[in-house]
Amino acid sequence: MGGESENLRKQHQEEIEHLKRQARVELEDARHQLAHELDALKLKVGSEQANLLQSLKDKDQAMSEMRTHNDALLSDLDRERTMKTHLQKQMDELVATNTSLEGTVRTLQAQVHFLESDSKQQSDSFSAMEARMQEALRSAEEARQKLIKEETERRVLFNKYQELKGNIRVMCRVRPVLGSPDDPVADLDYPDDKTSAQICVKGPEEKNSLGRITTKTFPFEFDRVFNPQIANEEIFGEISQLVQSALDGYNVCIFCYGQTGSGKTYTMSSPDGMIPRATKMIYDTVHQLKEKSWSYTMEGNFIEVYNEELHDLLTPTKDQKKLEIRHDEARRTTTVLNCKSVLLDSENTVELMLNEAEKNRSVAATKSNERSSRSHSVFTLKLIGENAATHERCEGTLNLVDLAGSERLKSSGAEGDRMKETQNINTSLKSLGDVIEALGAGQKHIPYRNSKLTYLLRNSLGGNSKTLMFVMVSPLEAHLNETLSSLRFATKVSYSQATTCSKDSATDKIPVRNRWKNADDPVAALTTRITHGDKAFRPLTDYDLGRILETISDGFDGAFHIADSYVTDVRAFAGQRGIASDVDAAREQADEWEFMVDAMDWEAV
Ligand SMILES: Nc1ncnc2c1ncn2[C@@H]1O[C@H](COP(=O)(O)OP(=O)(O)O)[C@@H](O)[C@H]1O
Ligand SMILES: [Mg+2]
Repeated sequence: MGGESENLRKQHQEEIEHLKRQARVELEDARHQLAHELDALKLKVGSEQANLLQSLKDKDQAMSEMRTHNDALLSDLDRERTMKTHLQKQMDELVATNTSLEGTVRTLQAQVHFLESDSKQQSDSFSAMEARMQEALRSAEEARQKLIKEETERRVLFNKYQELKGNIRVMCRVRPVLGSPDDPVADLDYPDDKTSAQICVKGPEEKNSLGRITTKTFPFEFDRVFNPQIANEEIFGEISQLVQSALDGYNVCIFCYGQTGSGKTYTMSSPDGMIPRATKMIYDTVHQLKEKSWSYTMEGNFIEVYNEELHDLLTPTKDQKKLEIRHDEARRTTTVLNCKSVLLDSENTVELMLNEAEKNRSVAATKSNERSSRSHSVFTLKLIGENAATHERCEGTLNLVDLAGSERLKSSGAEGDRMKETQNINTSLKSLGDVIEALGAGQKHIPYRNSKLTYLLRNSLGGNSKTLMFVMVSPLEAHLNETLSSLRFATKVSYSQATTCSKDSATDKIPVRNRWKNADDPVAALTTRITHGDKAFRPLTDYDLGRILETISDGFDGAFHIADSYVTDVRAFAGQRGIASDVDAAREQADEWEFMVDAMDWEAV
């Protein structure tokens, strides 16, 4: 029994072992199987993932292509839009053109109809047009001729008017107070603000014999007095007429006289002074005169008279040659040999000239300011005009002179060079005064040769020339004596003719210019003056002149009458007196009037 069970147990054991082995093999198989399946799965997943990535990339690519395409489309759209606006505009323009063309077509059609009609109306219309054109051409030519003639007439009348106003005029300018406000100011008064012709100076205090202190008031009267408020612009307004005369072929001299520091250089050559203003006006006028067939050449030179010697301010000192004065008696012109002339062909040339002069002056002297106040400087503009239509020619000169300081320098204290310099200034200023005085008095002999300055300017002083003397004064009390002496000098120059008229009347003491103020009839006044012995017309007032000019412009008969009766009166007067110089003076004046009447007759033709 025991063995059987043992066998059974062994059998079981073996069966168990076999089952175990079988199970292990099956397990192993199953594991293999599973591992295999896992690998297969892994492979499958990997490949699917790669596929997905690829398709993602493809999508990205597609999307960016879409974007590019989209951008291109957008820009296409923009272009199309712009094009559309442009086309719209073109279309609008075409519509407008079309409308106007339609109008033109209608007009042309009307013209075609008119032309086709070949009617009388057509030829009438042409001849009317032709007539109108001829008329327009004729009146244009007439206007041109009138313009040219008017200019000729204006020249005659304007310069006659200037002459009647006086070929010698004297004006006074008082400069403003400058620098320290504590400097005592002189008592200057301008009593007559209507004519602006008077100045009253309260003199320095004086003790009389009884020990009482008194002050005298000195009244002066000139053609015009400019108070300190008056600017260069207004001053130029007064002298612009003389600049016009120079353009019309006359010789003109404008002087600035006065003590050093009184404003001579400021008035003449500061940037808004008379020299730049005169040249500006000349340029402008020359431009306007082109219309009236006048063309001008303008030349300028700048000369310094120092110690009775001439120096060219436009040439550096080291290149200077000796300057020599040459006068052409017949043409009344003056040339200075070896002196540089500058053609003034542009508006800023004058500024360059002034700068050049300033440069040469400061090289010539260490103290250029001092030198310039001890010398005269003469700025000369030569103006030559020619008229292509009338073949008239005129040659005028404008001299702008900044004189040496007039302060009375005592020669006693000075020695050597300084004394010579002082004497030369005193002499030349005195001889300038003498020359103007002699001219005003109508003297036969004019002492031009007494100084270099008067000799240089001789053709611009006297005859038909026009002279303006500006006397400049300082407003300060410290300068009172110089002020009085300057004003006295100016008075002597201004009223020189008063002392030479007939001695038989008390009116001699009244400045001549005042005597005719109340004359009712200027022609009668004129005649009375002639018969009473006055030789010059200078003192007539503006009122008289206005009346005379009015008569002249009223008609040629009137002008002829005045001139004719004047000529007769002058001849009668000269005959009565039997004085040769009077006869000469009278004849000269008479001839001038006759010339004027001739010019008028010519205009009337
Ligand atoms: N009307 C004026 N207005 C302003 N300043 C003036 C006037 N006149 C002169 N001056 C000044 O006074 C000073 C002296 O004048 P300036 O022309 O040199 O005198 P002059 O040439 O007579 O010696 C200068 O500084 C100048 O600028
Ligand atoms: Mg000066």
